[in-house]
Amino acid sequence: MVELIYEGKAKRVYRLNDDELIIEFKDEVTALDGLRREAAAGKGRLAAAQTAFFMNYLERNGVRTHFINWDGDRRITVRALRMVPIEVIVRNYAYGSFLRRMPMVKPLTRFSKPLVEFHLKSDELHDPLLTTDDLIEAGLLGREDLQEVINTSLKVNDLLMGLLGMHGLTLLDFKLEFGFSRDGRLLLADELSGDTMRILKEGRHLDKELFRKGASAVDLVKAYAELNTLLGIS
Ligand code: C5P
Repeated sequence: MVELIYEGKAKRVYRLNDDELIIEFKDEVTALDGLRREAAAGKGRLAAAQTAFFMNYLERNGVRTHFINWDGDRRITVRALRMVPIEVIVRNYAYGSFLRRMPMVKPLTRFSKPLVEFHLKSDELHDPLLTTDDLIEAGLLGREDLQEVINTSLKVNDLLMGLLGMHGLTLLDFKLEFGFSRDGRLLLADELSGDTMRILKEGRHLDKELFRKGASAVDLVKAYAELNTLLGIS
C-alpha cells in the first residue's frame, strides 16, 4: 500500500518506500490561487509525459534530477528528497509577475541575459520574492548551494532553450524546485510541464497561460497534446 503524503492543486504525492515517492498528476487545472478549478481529462498523462521527457533530456545532458521513471500514464516515480522551500524562476522574456512588478518594461522584451529569481514557497504569503541575502540569512540555503542552484538553473535554461528552439518554440520562463538527497547531493525536483513553463509557438501559448487567460480546460489539454506531438513525446 502506498501512503498519500501530500495533495496539491495539480498533483498527489505518495510514499513508495524510504527512498522513493510517486507523483500523480491530476486531470484537473486550477488558476487564481485555486479559485478557478476545472476537470481536464487527459491533462495528467500529458503533464507526466512532459516531465519525464524533460527530466530524461536534462539527465542525459548532465543535470542530476529526482526522476526515476514514468508509468506511461499519470504517475512518475522519483527519489525522495529534503526539499528546499523555494521556487526558482528563470526568465528569458518579460512576462507574468515580472511585468506586474516592473510595468515600465514592454511585455515580451528579451532580457540581455536570463534572470534568475527566488520566491518563498508559501500559499499563505503568496510566494513572495526573496533576495539572495534573505534566503541565506533565513537558513534556506548555504552560499555554495545557492551558487549551485543558480548554475544548474542557468544550465537547465540553456538546455531547454536549445531543445525547444530546434522545434520552433520560444521558452519565455519556467519554475524549478530543488532538494537534497540522503547523501547530501542537490537534485532538480518537482515537475517540468506546461503548468510550470511558458512556451510560445508563433506567439501562441502551449502552456497553462491559456487557462489563466480564460481558455477552457479542453483547449488547454489540446495545447499540451500539440506540444507533445511537436516534441515527439509519446
Ligand atoms: O507568474 P510568474 O511570471 O512569476 O511565473 C513565472 C514562471 O514560473 C511561469 O512559467 C509559471 O508557469 C511558473 N510558475 C510556477 N509555479 C508558481 C509560479 C510560477 O510553475 N507557483
